[in-house]
Amino acid sequence: MLRIVVLVSGGGTNLQAVIDAVDAGRITNTEIVGVISNNKSAYALTRAKRHKIPSKCISPKDFETREEFNRVFLEKIRELHPDLIVLAGFLVVIPESMVQEYRNRIINIHPSLIPSFCGTGYYGLKVHEAALARGVKLTGATVHFVDEGTDTGPILLQKAVEVKEGDTPEILQRRVMEEAEWKILPQAIDLIANGKVRVANGAAMIEKEIN
Ligand code: GAR
Repeated sequence: MLRIVVLVSGGGTNLQAVIDAVDAGRITNTEIVGVISNNKSAYALTRAKRHKIPSKCISPKDFETREEFNRVFLEKIRELHPDLIVLAGFLVVIPESMVQEYRNRIINIHPSLIPSFCGTGYYGLKVHEAALARGVKLTGATVHFVDEGTDTGPILLQKAVEVKEGDTPEILQRRVMEEAEWKILPQAIDLIANGKVRVANGAAMIEKEIN
């Protein structure tokens, strides 16, 4: 069983997609052992409680220094003994010590086709505002492994989504979630849980079934 910890900051629709996929058997060999939010009013925490998943809030705001937050945060993660950490709309920068300790065992869902509209300052609705401002006709979502950079780690899965005339950032965000994020995040976890993913030389590869 792959033990996963899901880190969240907001609504938690990606967390919900993962919970639903586990319940429906679209993600196998996987147990969600914890949900951690940096924001105590995140609706994602309510979703976790409803599904009886242990959850807690740890916020940088409750610590005097970032170092102290990073230390306690890493301790809380370690206590859960995760095989995989899933960033599902988590808006706090992951401490470098955690990236090193969990190398190739942290994935993130980003709401664009990386390397477009990613990096510092591109999160949530801002990504879709930028995509509309640039006038792209296709956008999408990416699941990637987390390294020391912002949205720079090995790409595991991507799915394209059409931009339509009259789209607002909110409409586009919803379409990207429905058509891409809620599909590829569960798919990525299932692939990892079933030993189908290999990361080497900065690239993630999916091993094809040999019948
Ligand atoms: C999602 O669109 C996710 O891709 C994005 O935040 C949203 C969280 O929604 N993440 C980022 O922008 C990370 N750079 P959710 O809380 O409903 O899953």
